[in-house]
Amino acid sequence: MIEDSNSAIYGIIGNPLAHSLSPVMHNAAFEALEVDAVYKLFPLKEEELDGFFKDLKDPSSPIFGLNVTVPYKEKVMPFLDALSPFAAKVGAVNTIVIDDKRKLTGHNTDGPGFLCHLQELGVDITDKRIAVLGAGGSARAILTSLCLLPERPESIRIYNRTAQKVEDLIVELGGRMNVDILQAVNVIEDLNIELCDILINTTTVGMQPTDPMLIDHNLLHKDMLVYDIIYNPAKTLLLKEAQTIGANTTNGLGMLFYQGVLALQHWANQEIDVGVKILMRDKLEEESYGH
Ligand SMILES: NC(=O)c1ccc[n+]([C@@H]2O[C@H](COP(=O)([O-])OP(=O)(O)OC[C@H]3O[C@@H](n4cnc5c(N)ncnc54)[C@H](OP(=O)(O)O)[C@@H]3O)[C@@H](O)[C@H]2O)c1
Repeated sequence: MIEDSNSAIYGIIGNPLAHSLSPVMHNAAFEALEVDAVYKLFPLKEEELDGFFKDLKDPSSPIFGLNVTVPYKEKVMPFLDALSPFAAKVGAVNTIVIDDKRKLTGHNTDGPGFLCHLQELGVDITDKRIAVLGAGGSARAILTSLCLLPERPESIRIYNRTAQKVEDLIVELGGRMNVDILQAVNVIEDLNIELCDILINTTTVGMQPTDPMLIDHNLLHKDMLVYDIIYNPAKTLLLKEAQTIGANTTNGLGMLFYQGVLALQHWANQEIDVGVKILMRDKLEEESYGH
């Protein structure tokens, strides 16, 4: 899509952003939908957030929708005029809709995106034992989605480098929903990975080629699903180790796709045609796997 002075602008704010595949997916969708819009990267420093959000309120601003990524999913909330009921439950925002009166509404499509991908994989989480690494913005969204499901997992053990964050997160989410399946563990060994059905990595560990494994690879087993929500690189060390022992594995590309489709539907305020969705997925896979 060629940008001109009339093009509507969408984009993603975060820092760093070099790893993001969102522009590829959304620009492909805009082209297929034949809308005059471009999707851009907005790598912002924290001290730039205030000015950026002030400018968004300007009636002449061409920006009509944003995604939000690390480390701003919680930090953007004070700048918004409204939250969707689900984003309010999560306490984090990854999608902002800006209407023609410049009202900013925050949504969270990470949690539903994760669940849509599990459904696509045919994974039934009912009564499953789940272990989660991390307690950041994406963990919030995933844990909220899992707690709100009518058919819930048996247990979800959560470990985070900063242990207090898990305790605080469970207390916070507990004020808004039933969190009796969530359990904080202070040491990684207590995740009971050797007994779990699904291990979910929601930390950023694995994004860098030099990143270590957070867990002992001997605890992985072939009857589990290892879900690393990182999508760039396509195969983290955790996924490589899990594949070596014959476990089911997936990276975060499917989640990225579904959260992106849901974000686009919020911006467009309508269901996106299946042909456009296929194109978005193809572009992501082409960019990520080279085919
Ligand atoms: N596939 C998708 O659609 C999708 C969607 C959202 C996010 N993601 C990916 O998920 C990852 C996390 O995103 P986020 O928004 O949740 O980030 P975040 O809010 O910044 O949280 C980062 C998490 O990683 C942990 N962490 C960071 N460095 C660590 C280290 N050296 N050792 C142990 N733990 C460490 C943090 O622990 P502390 O609390 O101790 O700092 C925290 O739990 C990113 O790679 C992001 O790209 C993917």
